[in-house]
Amino acid sequence: RCGRLITMPEKVRINSADVKYTEKHIESRYCYNTASVLRDGETFTVTPSSTEFTFRTERKVPRLGVMLVGWGGNNGTTVTAAVLANKLGLTWKTKTGLKKANYYGSLLESSTVCLGSGPDGEVYVPFRHLLPMVHPDDIVFDGWDISSLDLGRAMERAQVLDWSLQEKLRPHMNQLKPRPSVYIPEFIAANQEHRADNLIRGTKAEQVDQIRRDICDFKERSGVDKVIVLWTANTERFCDVIPGVNDTAESLLNTIQTGGEVSPSTMFAVASILEGCAYINGSPQNTFVPGAVDLAVQHGVFISGDDFKSGQTKLKSVLVDFLVSAGIKPTSIVSYNHLGNNDGLNLSAPQQFRSKEISKSNVVDDIVQSNPILYRPGEKPDHCVVIKYVPYVGDSKRAMDEYTSEIMMGGTNTIALHNTCEDSLLASPIILDLVILTELCQRITFCTQDDPVFQGFHSVLSLLSFLCKAPLVPQGAPVVNAFFRQRACIENVMRACLGLPPQNHMQLEHKMK
Ligand code: NAI
Repeated sequence: RCGRLITMPEKVRINSADVKYTEKHIESRYCYNTASVLRDGETFTVTPSSTEFTFRTERKVPRLGVMLVGWGGNNGTTVTAAVLANKLGLTWKTKTGLKKANYYGSLLESSTVCLGSGPDGEVYVPFRHLLPMVHPDDIVFDGWDISSLDLGRAMERAQVLDWSLQEKLRPHMNQLKPRPSVYIPEFIAANQEHRADNLIRGTKAEQVDQIRRDICDFKERSGVDKVIVLWTANTERFCDVIPGVNDTAESLLNTIQTGGEVSPSTMFAVASILEGCAYINGSPQNTFVPGAVDLAVQHGVFISGDDFKSGQTKLKSVLVDFLVSAGIKPTSIVSYNHLGNNDGLNLSAPQQFRSKEISKSNVVDDIVQSNPILYRPGEKPDHCVVIKYVPYVGDSKRAMDEYTSEIMMGGTNTIALHNTCEDSLLASPIILDLVILTELCQRITFCTQDDPVFQGFHSVLSLLSFLCKAPLVPQGAPVVNAFFRQRACIENVMRACLGLPPQNHMQLEHKMK
């Protein structure tokens, strides 16, 4: 099959002198308003500034191929099955009635944005209608796994989807088989060894070359226009960052040749970057050692991560934001998890748990730092994360949190939460949002009045922070974990591409006499 670039008629058209639709692009003129602040003792001097931007969004949507590392795992099989079920319009019966395939949990597919007011009040449209983007039904999947099970059997092993749905999907899923992958036992838990029967042999350099060949092979056979690679394989231990080994692109490439400390996930990142394919890390480990970031920047390829923000952490980034922005002072946050899937088994090993603990720990930092009335410099709430493997609960992870806060006049407020996170069903729509947004960002360029040469976003694609537990940002850029700020960032950048001002919620037209 040949690749095809499709121009779909836009569902949202802007009626403004600042926006033009050419055959290739939506081009918008946009005024970016910000402010710089100087502090002198107790006085803050704020200087507003404006920059004229021109945004260009390519209108033609490519046929997208997504290669998952860990394709045979719970997330890999669930996202593939969900897309197939949606594409085929499947319905299935459970004891509570007829179910229909959907994309609930996807920001782009199942949430809406307000465009403004119409004759009957505010008008909301699906997020995905804002700009031309890939539809998840059209994504072609491929991938690697150290376990050789075909996706039909792997879906059964995952125990995520209803049995009657699995029966309908099995004939399709059985035909999908993960490619052999790189297994370095010291990086994942020893309890994963029995799965490792589908391996790329050879030196690290030969393994990276094989991954590169796999990407090319997939592209050629499937006819997709573009490939994005996403790691949803097991959590690895952290990699040691060592000068001369992985601190620059050059040293990292050299270490792959000589065979020093490089994790499998970094090898996949390097292979993807060298093939010009964006690479997303859905797990907590430090895949993006400085040398990998350096390589991505040199090649102008997007990288993003780390660790899907799906359940407990997502809620934490809402709840702590709510408390602190309401002037309430969280003093202790204690999070327990128990889960019984293979991810839980892997995380029962200390080094892999440590990666997850680090990733889960920093999520409240920016929110706490934003309020010097509640917190002295350097002060933080107690924050403790516990994860236990309990096979019986399978993929249906339980997250229990206790938030204790100081309220007025020495009072205490305690919130206790029990959150049943059907893990892979929460992570799968996030995988779709990650790849679809990454692909969209590849079609957006912009210039300013001072620098008329069009450029793309920085290689470290921080726009995806909303979907990540430990957002990776360009060096020196602030990390934002607060949920609604992250969401507003995506919405407002898309609005800028349409020449629309940021969503301000002022509704002044309804506040006048
Ligand atoms: P899983 O254990 O079911 O799947 C991982 C798959 O990766 C397995 O099939 C395994 O055989 C394979 N694998 C391991 N090492 C590999 C390698 N070097 N190359 C290729 N394949 C390899 O785990 P699950 O539940 O799918 O989660 C995947 C990752 O996503 C984990 O790291 C987890 O921490 C992360 N994650 C999951 C979330 C969720 O499910 N809600 C949320 C946040 C992160």
